[in-house]
Formats: sequence, C-alpha cells, structure tokens
Amino acid sequence: MQSALLMLVAGLALASGVRGDDAPGTTAHLAEIFVGRCFDKSTVADCNAWWAAFNQVVADVDPLSVTAASFDPYFAIANFSTPVDKAMFWSGSQYYVHQLSDAGLRYFTMEDTVGGFVQNGLHWCGSSSGYNYTSCPPGFRNTTTDTWYGAELAFWQHASTTFARQATGRVSVLLGSPYGGSAYRNSSFFALYELPNMNTSLVTAIDVYVITNGTERCGSGSLVALVQDIKHHLGLTPSCYDNPDMVRFILCENNGAPSAQCQFANEFSESSDLPADKAVPLALGCLLGGAILVIAVQQILLLRKKQASSQPMRQPLMGYGA
Ligand SMILES: *[C@@H]1O[C@H](CO)[C@@H](O)[C@H](O)[C@H]1NC(C)=O
Ligand SMILES: *[C@@H]1O[C@H](CO)[C@@H](O)[C@H](O)[C@H]1NC(C)=O
Ligand SMILES: *[C@@H]1O[C@H](CO)[C@@H](O)[C@H](O)[C@H]1NC(C)=O
Ligand SMILES: *[C@@H]1O[C@H](CO)[C@@H](O)[C@H](O)[C@H]1NC(C)=O
Ligand SMILES: *[C@@H]1O[C@H](CO)[C@@H](O)[C@H](O)[C@H]1NC(C)=O
Ligand SMILES: *[C@@H]1O[C@H](CO)[C@@H](O)[C@H](O)[C@H]1NC(C)=O
Repeated sequence: MQSALLMLVAGLALASGVRGDDAPGTTAHLAEIFVGRCFDKSTVADCNAWWAAFNQVVADVDPLSVTAASFDPYFAIANFSTPVDKAMFWSGSQYYVHQLSDAGLRYFTMEDTVGGFVQNGLHWCGSSSGYNYTSCPPGFRNTTTDTWYGAELAFWQHASTTFARQATGRVSVLLGSPYGGSAYRNSSFFALYELPNMNTSLVTAIDVYVITNGTERCGSGSLVALVQDIKHHLGLTPSCYDNPDMVRFILCENNGAPSAQCQFANEFSESSDLPADKAVPLALGCLLGGAILVIAVQQILLLRKKQASSQPMRQPLMGYGA
C-alpha cells in the first residue's frame, strides 16, 4: 500500500503543472498542434479562424494584461456542450481524472470539451514579438475583482467557469491531495470558479469522490467545508465516497494483476456504490486485463520450467512448485 500511495503521489505531482503552477515558455509548434487537434477531433467548422481568434488575444501582448474576458471570442466559437450526467470536476487528481474520463466516454471533464482539449497540456504567453518561448510569468489573481491575470490562468478561469455553467444533471468531482494538504482547497479552481458557477436549475445531484492519502476522508477536514459549500451554492447534499473502486480499478488495470496496485485494489476495497453503467465496464475491463496478465504470467512460468528442465540447473528453482 505504501508504494501504491507513493506512486499515486508521484503521478499527481508530475501532472500538476498544467493549470500553470509553474511557468514554462510557449510550447513549440503551438499553432500546428492547436489547428491539428481542432481538425482531428473538434466540431469547430473553421479551425484556422478559431486559431486566429486565440492568436489575436495572446500573441504580441503582455501576458499579465490578459484576463478571462479576453478569451470571449475563443469561447464563443468553441462548442462547450457536455452530455447530461457526465460532467466531472477535479482538483489535485489530474493524472487519474483523465484516465477515468477516458476522453469523454465515461465522464466529461473540462479537458474533454472542445474548448478545453485543444489546449490541454500546452503552454503559451505573448511577448513583444509573438510568443515567449523561454518562460512565462506565473500570473496572479486580483482578489478584489476575483480575476486571474496571466494568459494561461486567465484562459483556464474562463474554461472552468464556462464548463461549470453548463454542467447538467448528476455531476461529480474527483478530489486528490497530491501534496498531503487538503482535498478541498478554497484557492482551487474548483472552489473559485466551478462550484460557484454551477447552475442550481441544471445540476440535480453531486457525487464527491475522494482519493484519500490516509488523512482526510469524507466527513473530515476540508470535506466538511465542501459539503457546506455545496449546500450553500446548490442546495444539495452530496454523496461522498472514499477511494472509490473506479480509481482502484484504473490503478489495477494500468499496472496489471500481479502488481502492488492490484493488491491495493483488493485489500482496500470499501463499498462505494457506483452507478452500474460506470462500475460494470470498469470492473470488466480490469478483470479482462487481469485475466490476460495471469495467462501471460502462466505462459512465462511454463516456458521457464521447460528451459529449467532442459538445462543443467544452476540454481534451485524456488516457489513455483517445481
Ligand atoms: C456541440 O456538440 C454536441 C456534441 O458533440 C452536438 O450534439 C451539438 O450539435 C454541437 N453543437 C454545435 C452548435 O455545434
Ligand atoms: C519571457 O518571459 C520572461 C519571464 O516573464 C521574461 O523575463 C523575458 O523577458 C520574456 N522574453 C521575451 C522575449 O519577452
Ligand atoms: C485589483 O483590481 C482593483 C480594481 O480594478 C484595483 O483597484 C487594484 O489595484 C487591483 N489590485 C492589484 C494587486 O492589481
Ligand atoms: C498525506 O497528508 C499528510 C498531511 O496532510 C502528509 O504529511 C503526508 O505526506 C501525505 N502522505 C502522502 C503519502 O501523500
Ligand atoms: C481559505 O482557507 C483558509 C484556511 O482554512 C482560511 O484562512 C481563509 O480565510 C480561506 N479564504 C477564503 C477566501 O475563504
Ligand atoms: C441556469 O439555467 C437556466 C436553464 O437553462 C437558465 O435559464 C438560466 O439563465 C441559468 N442561470 C444562469 C445563472 O446561468
């Protein structure tokens, strides 16, 4: 369990940069990636016009002068509709949430929307001549106006707000605490721009999934404040689940049946009743992956037995019942 947790934490830490905690320079070939992603997977009719709308806001501009409102033309072009009952918000769980959402098939995160996915993982900021490929200023939030300055964070503020406004039906949030802090942080984009912008007449229920690190669990720490905030904003009482099976299934599926992650998945199984349409495909996928691995391991062991019996034995064979 210890190593599973450490891997979990390492994965989360690695993936934590996308919302602009650090400030790398503009991604090389930004225009080509943007337009390519748009042509490949979006419903946007004119990808070059969409790029132009983005480029006009960011290029040749002081990044710290760019705010969320600057991206209105970009988001007017992006189709942001999210299937009913599939919107999934996240905080501190980026590495897992996108495996879980499966590019919008299982759940729909902001990064699965047309407006979000063309930008996911990319970095950019303007300079006096086009883009700054060396580094970008980190950006800051004016707490009086509740506005982010700095191109990238301003963009994600707009994307988060837009995504939250149109989430409909049963929505969910996957919370992790990669650095051992609170799962629900009042400085997170989820707390600042997503929960407050959900529409009470559209959202009918909310499920909270917590990837615990042994400290905060549903009903403790910051998750108490979360329940209060959800009641306050939406008038709903959320359902809360610690270490939901679906997250353990993904760990298991990615790492294979004999791995520590699968033991973690078995040993720490707590009942968390997922809607059947989500839980069953996941469980089947994990079982199938596990079965294939078991067969593969058996084949390897058989092969090793054959080799061992056809060669002079240099070491005693241990543990295979040979
Ligand atoms: C937006 O996307 C959804 C789902 O892909 C689609 O049903 C809808 O027609 C699209 N709307 C527009 C205006 O393109
Ligand atoms: C790029 O950004 C860094 C950090 O904000 C800044 O020091 C540098 O002058 C910028 N370079 C250009 C070419 O604008
Ligand atoms: C925040 O915005 C207010 C209102 O526009 C402005 O008066 C104030 O100087 C800003 N603060 C910072 C730190 O930029
Ligand atoms: C869990 O959180 C605690 C305190 O919040 C922190 O000290 C600890 O390092 C975290 N453990 C892991 C494995 O993330
Ligand atoms: C955020 O949480 C911290 C720590 O609990 C608290 O001190 C602070 O007042 C909170 N800020 C807001 C804006 O709620
Ligand atoms: C909430 O959704 C309803 C129904 O679509 C809409 O009429 C209303 O304007 C929305 N409220 C906000 C604050 O966006």
